[in-house]
Amino acid sequence: MYEFCAPTKIIFGDGCLSETAPRIKKMGATCALLVTGRSSTASSAGFKNLGKELDAEGIRWVHFAEVGADPETTIVDRGAEVYRANGCDAIIGFGGGSPIDCAKGIAASVAEGRPIRDFVGTGLAFSVPVPPLVAIPTTAGTGTEVTNAAVFTVVDENGHRSKKGTSSQFYFPRLAVVDPLLHASMPPSLTAATGMDALTHAIEAYVSRFHTPLSDMYCLEAIRLIGRSLRAACEKAPQRSISISDSTTAAPFARRDMAMAATLAGVALSQAGLGMVHGFAHPVGAMTGLAHGLANAILLPFVMNALIPDAGERLCDIGAALTDDNGEKRPSAEDTVRAIARLGRDIGIPDNLEAAGVSMTYFESILTDALSYRRRKASPRAFTDAELRALLERMYGGKVEA
Ligand SMILES: [Fe+2]
Repeated sequence: MYEFCAPTKIIFGDGCLSETAPRIKKMGATCALLVTGRSSTASSAGFKNLGKELDAEGIRWVHFAEVGADPETTIVDRGAEVYRANGCDAIIGFGGGSPIDCAKGIAASVAEGRPIRDFVGTGLAFSVPVPPLVAIPTTAGTGTEVTNAAVFTVVDENGHRSKKGTSSQFYFPRLAVVDPLLHASMPPSLTAATGMDALTHAIEAYVSRFHTPLSDMYCLEAIRLIGRSLRAACEKAPQRSISISDSTTAAPFARRDMAMAATLAGVALSQAGLGMVHGFAHPVGAMTGLAHGLANAILLPFVMNALIPDAGERLCDIGAALTDDNGEKRPSAEDTVRAIARLGRDIGIPDNLEAAGVSMTYFESILTDALSYRRRKASPRAFTDAELRALLERMYGGKVEA
């Protein structure tokens, strides 16, 4: 028995941002809370165009620009206050994963009439449908524009920071506007990190114990697109800011491939879950501030190497999709792990956590957090605690040969 649920309407293509305002109007919105990060996105041409188009449709909008990386639950609550104070009736998340996840949290919080913290890491489920929620990604990575998940940082009374993933059917945005032109001004390092996040989603969902033939299809196509285009997207990402109307920038096909891959991988992870790459990347990010995509990129080859005995055949499938050699030679599981490591090396991903500047002082805290990862059971190998400790040791100072 399989279940598959991907209810988000997706609009995809260069320039499709302009569809946003008319579609929101059709949803009956009169005032949208526009959730962004604090810096560059909010001053981008895309953002300005969106504002103008909302104005042209007669939709009031209120800009909530307080979202930093991995938003704390208190930021979500502040956004919910702004939403209520201004009489908003729709929410738009515009930016990377953090603003979109924050928008999801605000939507759920205002619908429930309770602080988001009540639902994060507590097991309490949302019970009420959310206001119209639109997601507009400006990076090609998280896929959160189509997922049932959102990640928030919880800070406890001792100042301990942990990232908590939450899932709910109410988190699926009603509309995802995936416009690859919005990704044109990403610097290569961001393209690399977010692209490897998408690859991690596709690979972890593919080897997940909860994968299905339907989720597999999304994973393999995402992996194929990433194998084909991530290097080019990084090499040719423009160094200057590009006008939103400029459709002749470098590597447009690579950008489109990566935008599509991130969305496909988001659909897949909502069905099949993730695994211990994310199990370690979450505490690494929460405690050290290392960007989520970069943490995944570093950890991915180590976890896949450890999964060879349990997920060998599926790793071979991944290798075939990633290297896309028309089936001439089916890669071995070991070949696949090397291909993943090689891709990371080619786009500037450090070999291990130490090389990325993560201090050993975090070792025990990272391990403790990873041991309680809520999706640990999706891993195709039931890692023992001792195996996860040994794995983290390798992640710190080891190297997977490319
Ligand atoms: Fe991720």
